[in-house]
This record gives sequence, structure tokens and C-alpha cells, in this order.
Amino acid sequence: MTPFARVIGTGGYLPETVRTNDDLAKMVETSDSWIVERTGIRSRRIASPEESAASMAEIAAREAIEMSGKDGNEIDLIIVATGTPDRVYPSTACLLQSRLGIREGVAFDIQAACSGAIYALSIADKYIRSGAAKNVLVVGSEICSRIVDWSDRSTCILFGDGAGALLLEASDQPGVLSTHIHSDGSYEELLYCPNSQVNAETGNETKGYIQMRGNEVFKMAVKTLERIVDETLESNGLDKTDVDWLVPHQANTRIIAATARKLKMSMDQVVLTLEEQGNTSSASVLLALNEAVRDGRIKKGQIILLEAFGAGFTWGSALIKY
Ligand code: UT7
Repeated sequence: MTPFARVIGTGGYLPETVRTNDDLAKMVETSDSWIVERTGIRSRRIASPEESAASMAEIAAREAIEMSGKDGNEIDLIIVATGTPDRVYPSTACLLQSRLGIREGVAFDIQAACSGAIYALSIADKYIRSGAAKNVLVVGSEICSRIVDWSDRSTCILFGDGAGALLLEASDQPGVLSTHIHSDGSYEELLYCPNSQVNAETGNETKGYIQMRGNEVFKMAVKTLERIVDETLESNGLDKTDVDWLVPHQANTRIIAATARKLKMSMDQVVLTLEEQGNTSSASVLLALNEAVRDGRIKKGQIILLEAFGAGFTWGSALIKY
């Protein structure tokens, strides 16, 4: 029988430093009330100079492994989603593998911007279903604060740092029911982050920062996420009322509320973390899942819809029976 990929552990990490909307109002022309009204965000966490995507991933991963009761050496695949890797290479996944003391199996990064966790989960599910892996660690880890232009009020208010993790095992019990991932690369100009460049002759460095046409991204996100809700439910033969929890990417409360309306769900069935975390890109869905699992909101047997939308554009969803 084809095995299911079952979630057996979750973990999360947020750096200590809190940057509030009032802190930002001292840096750019904005206000707490504008940010709260337009985004739902009140504060975000900022990594210290000593922290990295790999160091944060390690803390989140150790939590997920501990919850699962597994030995780290049983993990045969590690996938890290990040847009802020420690190095060009080795991958952050290899750095994480080393930090965890694991010397066998496979480790690689994937880059799908804010949809990274859903992409990683989808790949993990395929590995387990095909029998190619038995225990897969999926991590999203981001230090967005290092690619944000802190003088640009249209982007700096949105992003935060953090890491989320989950551990999947091959099981005859569900499990991930389905995953759906998509890309359309023709929207590059609406949301992108150029590489930092060093001029070979002068040695001058040009920093690459997130560039976004927010309002256009907003409209695309709402439309696209509505479509993926239909696709996910149809492919499982389920009705909106069958979904117990929506665990969305945390970009903007108004985008999330539109998806909840589409699902005819009350906001009480939506896991929201952005108020105190902002948009942590590929970490956000995993951080939200971890929070709701650990505080007991998500219970065994419930149906959870995870979704995300990000640069590319990339988008995706996963339906899980917890
Ligand atoms: O995670 C990846 C995907 N990303 C997203 O999903 C983000 C999607 N976009 C958004 O969340 C929203 O578009 C934003 C929160 C970024 C912006 O909200 P908006 O309602 O779309 O505002 P806007 O861009 O249309 O700007 C409205 C006004 C502009 O002023 P004028 O031209 O009307 O005079 C902006 O200059 O608000 C101004 N503005 C601000 N004012 C105070 C932009 N940023 C700020 C700010 N504080 N921080």
C-alpha cells in the first residue's frame, strides 16, 4: 500500500528582539494605526547579527524532532525552504544536517519565496509516497530583515524573521491528503529581490533589497488563493464545511480574511500569527501550524488547509488530516 506522510512533530523559533510599529514610525513616515489597519501587523522579530537561517532552523528542527520522539539519525531527507540562505553553497539544509549531527541521507534547499514551505511539504510528501524516504524534516527559515530596505515604508513594515519545522513519517494512517503547487514566472517585476552585487573594479557593493508593487500583488494573491481553495477541495471530494482549520501564509490579514470568506469559515477557525510576527516568508505557515498544534487548537483527526502565495509568482496548498 502507498504510504501516507503523517505529521509527527512541529517546531518553531522566533528571535528575541521585537520591533514594533512605533519603532518603525521613528525610522520611516508611517504610523501604528496605518500598519494595523492595512496589514494587521503590530510587531515583528529581528534576528541578532550572530543568528542565521541555519542557526534558527536548528532550534525549530530540534523542537520538531523532540515532539516526534524519533532519533535524528532516522531522518533520511531534510528540505529547507529559504530565500535568505547562510551561503550560496553549501545549502542551508546541509548546514542544518551538520548541526543536527546527521551524516547520512539527503539534504537540499528549495527556493519558492513565501510559498517555500508548501513546496517543501509537497516534495516531502512525494518522496514518502514513492517509498524513497521514510522520515522527512521540512523547515522554513528566514532572516527577511537582511533583505529589507529599512528606509522603504512600503515593504519594511511587512517582514519579520523566524523558523518553523515539521517532521513527517511514512505511515498507513493519513496524513497529507494532497498538495498542489503552481508557478507563473511572468510576474517577476511585481515582487523580486535582486542579488547584492560587488563591482569588480571599484569593490563597491550594491545591496539587493525586496522590491514590491504591493497593491497589485495583493489583488493577485486574493484571486489566486481563492482558486487554489477550490482546486484542493475538489481534488479530495470535500466540502468547505469539512475543513476544521485554515493555516495560511501570513502576509496580510485582509488577504487571509478573503480566503476565509471563500471557505465560509469564521476567523476563529483561522490560525493568525502575523500580528506579532509579520510576514516571515517561507517560515510563516510552519510557525502558525506549530503554534496551533502546541496550544491544543489543532486536534488529532482534524482537517487542516495550508496555503501560501509569493514571489514568482508561486502559490500552493496542502490538505492534511492531523
Ligand atoms: O508574502 C508575499 C506576498 N506579499 C503580499 O501578499 C503583500 C501584498 N500587499 C499588501 O499587503 C498591501 O498592498 C500593502 C500593505 C503592502 C499596502 O497596502 P495597500 O492598501 O495596497 O496600499 P497602497 O500600496 O495602495 O498605498 C496606499 C497609500 C499610498 O499613498 P498615496 O499614493 O495614496 O498617497 C502609499 O504611499 O499608502 C501609502 N503608504 C503608506 N502610508 C503610511 C504605503 N506604505 C505606507 C506606510 N505608512 N507604511
